[in-house]
Amino acid sequence: MRVDVVTIFPEYLAALDVSLIGRARKDGLLDVHVHDLRDFTVDKHRTVDDTPYGGGAGMVMKPEPWALSLLSISEQSPAGARPLLVVPSPAGQVFNQALAHEFAGREHLVFACGRYEGIDERVLDWASESFDVLPVSLGDYVLNGGEVAALAMVEAVGRLIPGVVGNPESLVEESHADGLLEYPVYTKPSFWRGRGIPPVLLSGNHAKIAEFRRTEQFIRTAARRPDLLASIDVPSLTATDRAA
Ligand code: ADE
Repeated sequence: MRVDVVTIFPEYLAALDVSLIGRARKDGLLDVHVHDLRDFTVDKHRTVDDTPYGGGAGMVMKPEPWALSLLSISEQSPAGARPLLVVPSPAGQVFNQALAHEFAGREHLVFACGRYEGIDERVLDWASESFDVLPVSLGDYVLNGGEVAALAMVEAVGRLIPGVVGNPESLVEESHADGLLEYPVYTKPSFWRGRGIPPVLLSGNHAKIAEFRRTEQFIRTAARRPDLLASIDVPSLTATDRAA
């Protein structure tokens, strides 16, 4: 998969050199390119922002550097692939594991990291001629720009690419894989600072352990994220059960 990130702070993306994503890049599983938006300006001050039409606080990112950067990137798109342009924004659709899987199925992802009050809206419309365009939010809070959101999304998507995570089974058992939160985990020692572990985990009975973990997933999800329970597909749970 090819990933391009356009930003005025390329150094923010240095984290993509380390850990699993860094290794995936070295192994040729992920082809990541980070671009400085200022390299696509044509004035001597390398200006990327201007005042908003209609007035108001802050500055807006000028459209032309975005057009020039995106044109250059679309020329480098893998043959036959229509790139997905992800625009991190608190005004976007909220990112989740389902979206991460959708992104992982694409050949070419491009992240347009805005700063200030955002990017001139016409860029999104213009870009839709050659990109699928999707504004995406990391959650209901405001960051200073799209870089941290792009980092989070590249990591969530990258680890779904076959070969990036060493043991693919860990992807099956983690939070959100089946719509529920992950069960609690424990390691040695079995007694620590006055606290033991659930005895079933020492029983060697794999069916009982699986049942215990599944129950814990439901208890934890109900306590922390009851909103998730409404959308999971449990064949044994009828509509009447759900309503109860
Ligand atoms: N840029 C600023 N806030 C953001 C958020 N919550 N998600 C994605 N991009 C953002």
